[in-house]
Amino acid sequence: MKAICPGSFDPVTYGHLDIIERAVALFGEVIVGVGRNSAKNYLFETDERLRLIEDACAHLPGVQVSPLSGLLVDFCAEHGVGVIVKGLRFAGDFEFELQMAQLNRVIGEVETVMLPTSKDWGHLSSTMIREIASLGGDVSGFVPPLVAERIAAKVAARREG
Ligand code: PNS
Repeated sequence: MKAICPGSFDPVTYGHLDIIERAVALFGEVIVGVGRNSAKNYLFETDERLRLIEDACAHLPGVQVSPLSGLLVDFCAEHGVGVIVKGLRFAGDFEFELQMAQLNRVIGEVETVMLPTSKDWGHLSSTMIREIASLGGDVSGFVPPLVAERIAAKVAARREG
């Protein structure tokens, strides 16, 4: 069955990649859907978030990266996706994801599988990565090398501008 890992991925972290790798192991074929949440301010535009994930997933056969817009269940219907895969870090994630999973099942008959994040990455969030990087901290232990490089370049450009 084809699965989707949807998200903003601003930027993609080792926590996201852990979930994507485990989703491929479970379902064989995974679309990483890169969307835009209008409530969020993004560091990277959609094109760059797509490129960074493509690079980070290049070693994973069975993974395809795609922009995502509109309703997630419509995307699933159009692309033959049968299951949404989400990572859970803590109880707060579950409360939000449960509501989404229930709604997506009602409006689109799509199932959601929630995977507990590996203990190594449970503390990670893209928001924290952006904050650490913007304050001059080292994020190389949390994100792929190209992402760390691109964040450093963005932060430097913002400081100069
Ligand atoms: O968790 P994120 O990073 O905010 O996810 C962003 C995105 C765009 C993937 C997410 O907001 C999403 O799934 N949007 C689809 C809109 C939708 O289907 N909404 C109804 C859910 S019940």
